[in-house]
Amino acid sequence: MGIMERMRLDGKVSLVTGGARGIGKAIAEAIAEAGSHVAIVDIDIDEAKKTADEIAKNLDVQTIAIKTDVTNQEDVDKMIASILNKFGKLDVAFCNAGICMNIPAEEMTLDQFKKVIDINLTGVFLTSQAAAKVMLKQGKGSIINTASMSGHIVNVPQPQCSYNASKAGVIQLTKSMAIEFAKRNVRVNSISPGYIGTELTLNSPDLKPLIAKWNELAPLGRMGRPDELQAIAVYLAGDTSDFTTGSDFIIDGAFSCF
Ligand code: NAI
Repeated sequence: MGIMERMRLDGKVSLVTGGARGIGKAIAEAIAEAGSHVAIVDIDIDEAKKTADEIAKNLDVQTIAIKTDVTNQEDVDKMIASILNKFGKLDVAFCNAGICMNIPAEEMTLDQFKKVIDINLTGVFLTSQAAAKVMLKQGKGSIINTASMSGHIVNVPQPQCSYNASKAGVIQLTKSMAIEFAKRNVRVNSISPGYIGTELTLNSPDLKPLIAKWNELAPLGRMGRPDELQAIAVYLAGDTSDFTTGSDFIIDGAFSCF
């Protein structure tokens, strides 16, 4: 079988947290195009339903939209139960939901700090742990966490210490789980994007004014697009990446090289 055929995900069942829009939506569309059924998991259920309906209409797969706050363990457990109830298995989990807050370190309140860590790091832990429990029982699975180049570098000029710390945490959480599950055939990897044009960046009043500055710093002179993360998502979800675990894939147009 040729490589393009082997990269297909026909019959697999995947979940994407933060799948309603942005990077999560692009990932959901890509894996659905490759043949995977998809659960769109998001705190914004209206947007999640729209995305799930759109994918089911355009592509030959089944979808489900599930309202979940990834910081709430009960919500996460219920979400996994609804996926098992509908599809009977879970092959792939993209733990992607995340937020950013741009607040100087000396002004950040404990609640603000905790909110970012709760969603970006604890949310990834809860989702990947719940997914792993199913996958370990099945004897196979692939977990892909969205980290960030901010887990490697400190972005400038905006102050975002909690975000950077949360993403560095995601990278180490990924590697730690990869080692724990390696012999049991459950793989865990992360994707670390550079600046990508989504609601988070393009429509945030804090971040929007900084885009010109980022583009000036960027070796490619521009931000990335969500679709530029689709191929790595399909690769990591599928069986051609069977030897790939504990890796972090920096896709940032060389932004973090200097
Ligand atoms: P976005 O803001 O467009 O989408 C995030 C999605 O997550 C939204 O649909 C939102 O409703 C959902 N969400 C937020 N809190 C949630 C919660 N508690 N439970 C469930 N869902 C929740 O953001 P974007 O840009 O698509 O980001 C996706 C991931 O990629 C995040 O983890 C972000 O940190 C990361 N990332 C984004 C970059 C960028 O430049 N846009 C760069 C590097 C990483």
